[in-house]
Parts: sequence; C-alpha cells; structure tokens
Amino acid sequence: MIRFENVTKRYADGTVAVEGLSFEVAEGELVTLVGPSGCGKTTTMKMVNRLIEPTEGRILVDGADIAGVEPVELRRRMGYVIQQTGLFPHRTVLDNTATVPHLLGWPKARRRERARELLDLVGLDPSVYGDRYPDQLSGGQRQRVGVARALAADPPVLLMDEPFGAVDPVVREHLQNEFLRLQSRLHKTVLFVTHDIEEAVRLGDRIAVYGEGRIEQFDRPASVLGAPASPYVADFVGADRGLKRLSVTPIEHGDLEEPPTVHLSDRLDKAAERMASSGARWAVVLDDADELHGWVSAGVVAGAGQESGTVGDHARRMEAWLPLGSSLKQAFSTMLQHDAGWIAVLDSADRFVGVLTPARLHAALRRSVGADARDLDREQVALESIEDS
Ligand SMILES: Nc1ncnc2c1ncn2[C@@H]1O[C@H](COP(=O)(O)OP(=O)(O)O)[C@@H](O)[C@H]1O
Ligand SMILES: [Mg+2]
Repeated sequence: MIRFENVTKRYADGTVAVEGLSFEVAEGELVTLVGPSGCGKTTTMKMVNRLIEPTEGRILVDGADIAGVEPVELRRRMGYVIQQTGLFPHRTVLDNTATVPHLLGWPKARRRERARELLDLVGLDPSVYGDRYPDQLSGGQRQRVGVARALAADPPVLLMDEPFGAVDPVVREHLQNEFLRLQSRLHKTVLFVTHDIEEAVRLGDRIAVYGEGRIEQFDRPASVLGAPASPYVADFVGADRGLKRLSVTPIEHGDLEEPPTVHLSDRLDKAAERMASSGARWAVVLDDADELHGWVSAGVVAGAGQESGTVGDHARRMEAWLPLGSSLKQAFSTMLQHDAGWIAVLDSADRFVGVLTPARLHAALRRSVGADARDLDREQVALESIEDS
C-alpha cells in the first residue's frame, strides 16, 4: 500500500535526515515508527503526503509513484493527525471536524451529520462538545477531535505524528485503547510516529525502530522485543524488554494444558476413576452448561470416594480466568492477583478450553520470538529467554 524505495532526504543545509529507507506498509496495517528525537521520523511521514520531497528514491502508494500525484489529490486520501492537533481556534469542534468535507464541497447538512457521527465514534458527545471551541476542551479531548477530523472524508490512509505525545500517561493509555478499538473496525493503513517504545509495541502490527536516519529493525513487536537485531535496538527497547514482550504476546490455544474435566453433577466414584487414570492432581470442574465452575483436587475426590456424593459437594470456585487472546501480561497479573498457580482460559463463547500454568506462560513467551519463522538457532533463543526472564 505504502512503499519506500531507497529514499534519502537531504535538507538544504546538508543535514541528511533519512538515508536509503526501504520498507512497506501493507493495506490495513498499522506500522509504528519509533526512535529518539531527530532520527528522521517526521521527515519520513511528511514525505508520504508530499509536505517534504525526497532527495533520492521513490515512494509508491497503491503502486503509483506519488511524485506524479497532485499533492492536494494525494492528501485527500490521507488523514493527518499531529501532536498540536492544528485545530482552528476560532471554529467550533463540529466545524473543525468537518474541515475536509467542507473543502471537498459537501453540502452543509451532510458534512454536519458526518462530523456528529465522527465525534460519536471518537467518544465525544456531539450535543455536548459540538459547539465548543478547542480551548474549551482538555488536551485528550482535543486529540480526539484531531482524530475525528482526520477520519472525516474516510481516507484509506492515516498519518499520525506523535498524536498522543502531549497528554498525560493515563489519558494516553485511554486514547491508545480507543484508537486500537477504532482501528479494529476501520482497518486503515496507518503510519504512526512515536518516540515511546511502549506505545510503539502496544499499537503496531509491526514496528520500525529508527537509528539515526535509518531503520535498524522492522518486525512484529514480539520479535523486536524478543530478538533485537543489534545492540542499539536492544538498548533502545530497554532492559525490561522481556516484560514488555508479555504485553504484546496473546495466549493461544497451543499454549494451554488440558487437565481432566469433571462436572458438578458427576458422582464422586466416577470422577475419582477418571482422575486416577489421567494421573492428574486436580481436575477442572464445569457446570451443566459446560461453563467453568472451579476445580477439585484428586486427593479430596479419592478420599471421599466411598461417599455417595457428587463433585459439587467438594469443588472449589475458580475466579482466575481470561479469554483466549488476552495478553500474557494479563495472564501473569491475574495469577498474581488471585495467588493462583494456574488460570483457566475460555473461548469467546465462554467455554473452557484449557489452563495456563507458569511453565506454559514461559514457553509461550519463547514462542513469541517466532524462532521458527525467523530461522533462528533454537539454542540461541533458549539462551535469550533465560536472560530475559
Ligand atoms: N527543514 C529542515 N532543515 C534542516 N534540517 C532539518 C529540517 N527538518 C528537520 N531537520 C533535521 O532532520 C533530522 C530529522 O528530523 P525529524 O524528521 O524532524 O526527526 P524526528 O521526527 O525523528 O524527531 C534532524 O536532525 C532535524 O534537525
Ligand atoms: Mg518528529
């Protein structure tokens, strides 16, 4: 969708902002550009909508060299969000949001309707905020208006330059979550600039880690954190990259253990038989709708084997559970919160699929490096993960 081919930008004073840049952003993909101040992120971004022209190389959008596309026409296809939002101070929130539809000559009723719809989409009630002016909003609210405005004409591409950089950490996390939710519905092709590695790994399908004027590594967040391509990248992503990787690695089906399951209404002697044959020390207990109830220990069941009761008489409740796809960080935090040696994992229909143990969590973290896909030496990865954890 967006393709950089050997792009170099040298400014008039001789500063080489980026050199020999080649990478591609797929349609519907969110790529974050991350690196320290002055490494060329903004320059990269502004070349995509021709606010800056490359000195060498070319940039293709949808297969066409943008050097041959009128800037106005090009920008119509690209929403642009910057840190200072660039809202017009003397225009209302509604009018600011409708800026591009206005430029495109949409009739007034239609553009106001579109602006209301978008404010709603970014979590601002248009009947409350629509008639305010930008200085009557908080920083976080202004950023939301900035995002709404960029989306107004439904462009396929979004260029975002440190859009959440100026708001406090709590609001930023909130905006990030909302943006992720929005993106999962809209599937825009997004180039997102940030100097914050946490933000980059949290949002990016892939991230480009910049050194001075060049990309040092371009890969999925878990791979960058798990197998940094150079000492520079390892240093940039931080000594706690193992921990960061927890938050970008989802729980997958293959990570789970499958202990025996018994039902609340099962007779104890039957349950004891089942558990003895599997050799497990405990079993997961499901209710009659096959939903998670809790667990029961093999010892208790065997000891009570002579009674005529049911599993339900001895089962304990299990509160530590998560849906598949939750992050390993959530899993770890849930284990700590409930002081549990394992957590139950449910599918999207709340059916029990398996349990995650600390050992499986560690194995999942190693999987996340994508060793096979990247053809890395297994031993090397094992060492990595020993160092990390
Ligand atoms: N108009 C300009 N003229 C000369 N140098 C510039 C200009 N704009 C940016 N630079 C320089 O180019 C380098 C990259 O800048 P920039 O792309 O803004 O970095 P970032 O967004 O990563 O902080 C920096 O050294 C910066 O000082
Ligand atoms: Mg910048």
